[in-house]
Amino acid sequence: MNDVQVKELEHLITGAIAPHLGEGASIYSGDVDVTIKHDEKQKKGKIWVGIPEPSPLLINDALMDKLTTILTTVGFPLITVFPPDGLTLVDTHSSDLATRRALEWDFIEGAYTRVAYDSFDSICPIEIGQKYYVPLMRGYNMAFDDLGNTQNHTVFSGPSGSGKSVAAMVMLSAMINPIKKWNGKDYVMTNRKLADELIVISPKNDKNLYDFCQKHDITPMVPTGHGFVANVIEKLNLLLELCQQRQAKIIKGVSPAIMPYKVLYLDEGLYLSQLTRDRKQRQELDSMLTSLLIIARSAKVIIVITSQTMSDQVLNTSARDQLNNRLLFGNPNGPSDSTRFLFKNWHNQLVIHHDDYSFGTGIASMESNGGRMVSFLSPFIKEIAQ
Ligand SMILES: Nc1ncnc2c1ncn2[C@@H]1O[C@H](COP(=O)(O)OP(=O)(O)OP(=O)(O)O)[C@@H](O)[C@H]1O
Ligand SMILES: [Mg+2]
Repeated sequence: MNDVQVKELEHLITGAIAPHLGEGASIYSGDVDVTIKHDEKQKKGKIWVGIPEPSPLLINDALMDKLTTILTTVGFPLITVFPPDGLTLVDTHSSDLATRRALEWDFIEGAYTRVAYDSFDSICPIEIGQKYYVPLMRGYNMAFDDLGNTQNHTVFSGPSGSGKSVAAMVMLSAMINPIKKWNGKDYVMTNRKLADELIVISPKNDKNLYDFCQKHDITPMVPTGHGFVANVIEKLNLLLELCQQRQAKIIKGVSPAIMPYKVLYLDEGLYLSQLTRDRKQRQELDSMLTSLLIIARSAKVIIVITSQTMSDQVLNTSARDQLNNRLLFGNPNGPSDSTRFLFKNWHNQLVIHHDDYSFGTGIASMESNGGRMVSFLSPFIKEIAQ
């Protein structure tokens, strides 16, 4: 964006806000003042909406929400505005006390767009410095590091057929495919991987997941006759023990850098508890999963879950709070309450981007991107597209 475009956008936003300020307020009498602080090199910036006092406007969350909706829509697709968590008031350092405060939003230039991969095999994490990046959209990466400092417990939620399992397999591929290293000029394939073990639990015995496991020599746990849930509990228990052993080593000074990631994938995992009528077993499953989510964070063990619905009926809130990456497909304003469960601050402030594909479209918030809520388009995987 050049200076002329920035000025144009300032005018456009000012004009768009005008009709929504409510009675008694007018931008033309200087009740709001829109300024874009643009960093041309970094291709990002901040939008300030100054509210000179005394003002007829009540500065509160409701005003922030209303303005966020306007900024995200008017900015699209020139800039992507990030909805703040609540009221974000900054000091303008103006010499005039009346204009010392402004509401603030961060933005980046352009809009995130969908990336395409030929196959799951072509999804390799890219090593730059001490970190590993997996492009999930153009300009939007999931990051990992050697120490396990970037927390990556992940949940994919959304209706049947919305692309949860495929998106989860994108993430799993990145964990078990070889790392590509950037040497300053080129990408060089290495024979290192982020994870040395992937445990797959597939209560619905998903076909794509089955093929994926076959290719990587993994035996997924699927319901076959009796004892499935008990076997899963046993597996989770083993993993919990491993986490405890790792933690004990880390406390003694062993660096997590030498420990490869381990990944547990529960495909439609929360449907698991439907597979048993035994209340005690259900409770055991629930508490085991919660303990694992909590303890695994500091043991370089990552838990990935998909679930058609998300609510306190399927996952307790302390387990939910351990989920660092949350992706929700389908219409976030739809009838299910998954949105509110996963995204407490969702007030319909985001423009949901759409393109030629119907799957993998929704909203996301990931720790490696500062937990910011963004409109999400899951990578397109050519080999499985129908
Ligand atoms: N990213 C993608 N790239 C290409 N095709 C996709 C993608 N996501 C989904 N699809 C297509 O949509 C189908 C359904 O996707 P997927 O199995 O991931 O849905 P789901 O949300 O897991 O559904 P369910 O809740 O029923 O398990 C896939 O078999 C595939 O054909
Ligand atoms: Mg699925």
